[in-house]
Amino acid sequence: MKLIQVEDYQDMGKKAAEIILDRVRNTENIVLGLATGGTPISTYENIVQDHQTNGTSYQHVTSFNLDEYIGVRPDHPNSYHTFMYKHLFHHINIPQEKIFLPNGMAEQQQECRDYEQRIREHGGIDLQVLGIGENGHIGFNEPGTAFDSTTHVVDLAESTRQANARFFESMEDVPKQAITMGIGSILRSKEILLLIAGEAKSKALAQLLDKQVDEQFPASALHHHANVTVIADKAALQHTN
Ligand code: F6R
Repeated sequence: MKLIQVEDYQDMGKKAAEIILDRVRNTENIVLGLATGGTPISTYENIVQDHQTNGTSYQHVTSFNLDEYIGVRPDHPNSYHTFMYKHLFHHINIPQEKIFLPNGMAEQQQECRDYEQRIREHGGIDLQVLGIGENGHIGFNEPGTAFDSTTHVVDLAESTRQANARFFESMEDVPKQAITMGIGSILRSKEILLLIAGEAKSKALAQLLDKQVDEQFPASALHHHANVTVIADKAALQHTN
């Protein structure tokens, strides 16, 4: 696991975008795995800015998002579909038919199987972008999730719902379930880029860098992967020696 230390959240976005842009420019038919949440927003801003300034093309890019809420329509303001179009897809020239997110309105078990199958049909994910939860979750794989799990339905931990409540009008509006790529699906990516910023994530980062592998701390599964880069800012690194 390689660690890149950056000053702050904005620098993390610049560095992450640099790595993603390098892979996009140099890989034919690249498949990206993308995340939502507060963490990747500065990364997506840098990608959009580069597209506007340098014209980097996304015609050859396919993307699979990690997760989507169950029971939330794709066009709902709080869906992850909406998030991704707002922060990235509307602003770059990625073909509509190459954008994939789990459908939170579909028959759930079938959708999980189909999503996993679609990733396989596209040759797997070349570069997976991840954030991390304060409890160490990756995607919506909460503590205790099997490391060989594939795309599945999850009950969201109360702490995760609370952390995400800022995007909703009230706590009651925060969905209770989601479809997420599994830890096994994530580990099959050829390269993984984990982004960590802010003091709230500092304990999770310290635990990750401790190198102990434990299903109660989902991100520790990344120690089983040979090509992981962590980009962390100073605030997140403060509990690290
Ligand atoms: C989002 C996702 C989650 C987030 C994590 C951190 O697609 O899969 O694992 O990366 O919850 O969220 P933020 O970035 O909002 O702190």
